[in-house]
Amino acid sequence: MKVISVCNVSKQFKTPKKFPGFKGALKGLFTREYTVKNAVSNISFDIEEGEIVGYLGANGAGKSTTIKMMTGILTPSSGTISIDGIVPYEKREKNAMNIGVVFGQRTQLWWDIPLNETYTLLKNMYDIPEDAYRERFEFLDGVLGLHEFIMQPVRTLSLGQRMKADLAAALIHNPKVVFLDEPTIGLDVVVKEKVREAIREINRRYNTTFILTTHDLHDIEELSTRIIVIDKGVKCYDGSMENLKSQYGYLSTITVRIQDFAAVSEDAVKAVFDGMKHSSEFNVKKTEDSFVITFNKQFCTVSDIMQRLFASFSVADFVVQETGIEDIVKKIYLEAGER
Ligand SMILES: Nc1ncnc2c1ncn2[C@@H]1O[C@H](COP(=O)(O)OP(=O)(O)OP(=O)(O)O)[C@@H](O)[C@H]1O
Ligand SMILES: [Mg+2]
Repeated sequence: MKVISVCNVSKQFKTPKKFPGFKGALKGLFTREYTVKNAVSNISFDIEEGEIVGYLGANGAGKSTTIKMMTGILTPSSGTISIDGIVPYEKREKNAMNIGVVFGQRTQLWWDIPLNETYTLLKNMYDIPEDAYRERFEFLDGVLGLHEFIMQPVRTLSLGQRMKADLAAALIHNPKVVFLDEPTIGLDVVVKEKVREAIREINRRYNTTFILTTHDLHDIEELSTRIIVIDKGVKCYDGSMENLKSQYGYLSTITVRIQDFAAVSEDAVKAVFDGMKHSSEFNVKKTEDSFVITFNKQFCTVSDIMQRLFASFSVADFVVQETGIEDIVKKIYLEAGER
């Protein structure tokens, strides 16, 4: 079932033109000249219930602007959005009952109130029945360990604790759709993993739909099955992780050290792969102390390659590395920049 529909959405920001100096400041008071910024340009996508979608883009690409329109904080300049049948910027409160939001850069929680009271307030705000609330809270506490700091006012929480608290607050009313804008920003690896675990677990158990923006591509690699990439407000990729990898070349490398390294030429190593099935990206390069073999996993495997090497050389050591999604996304940004 489709829960999110974004159709030809654009957002322009008008900011008053600035003129330099004191005279300029005076001039600015009396003229109405604006610069127009196209933050989001004609974006469309649909999202099915239960999907975890990674929303990627460089700084200033328009990610937060899109999320703000989907949560009803901003109204699109043109186009339409529907979240579970509700137009968020027209029925903001009704929409709020269905969604959860975390802006990693800024807490949504009341600064001076102890966390336990915060959740009680949310329970009343969302009108959550006692039993449902209890079950939900226990579940979230189990995944996120909220009891460790539940009595503290929010302002005294560490960044990691605060993020866990924020995430729990966004999920307490069992929303259908959850928007996470940089949910792991500034967290250490252990807390990051906890946050990801919570997202995965909630998604599995309640079929909750997630859209998350992040600059940490491990988040995406571990959570999302689908990614949408925007660049300068324009959508430039929408599809599966797998497709992205094959479309933009998902290459791996094996770095091999062999005995009698100096005596072995690049051509000699290349020769052992004669007749092996591989793609045009296949490459062997001799570096200072090893051979680096680049290959596409869709055409041959690590064991295909290693068997041939073992048969011809005395291999001392080897390391396999996969091209991360970082490299692929960089490539998309570069290509989008050339348009
Ligand atoms: N309220 C606003 N008024 C004017 N310009 C804005 C406003 N909000 C955002 N912008 C501009 O719109 C563009 C997109 O901003 P947005 O915050 O959506 O980017 P982002 O993809 O979330 O970037 P980041 O990764 O840095 O968070 C930027 O150029 C930004 O300066
Ligand atoms: Mg942002």
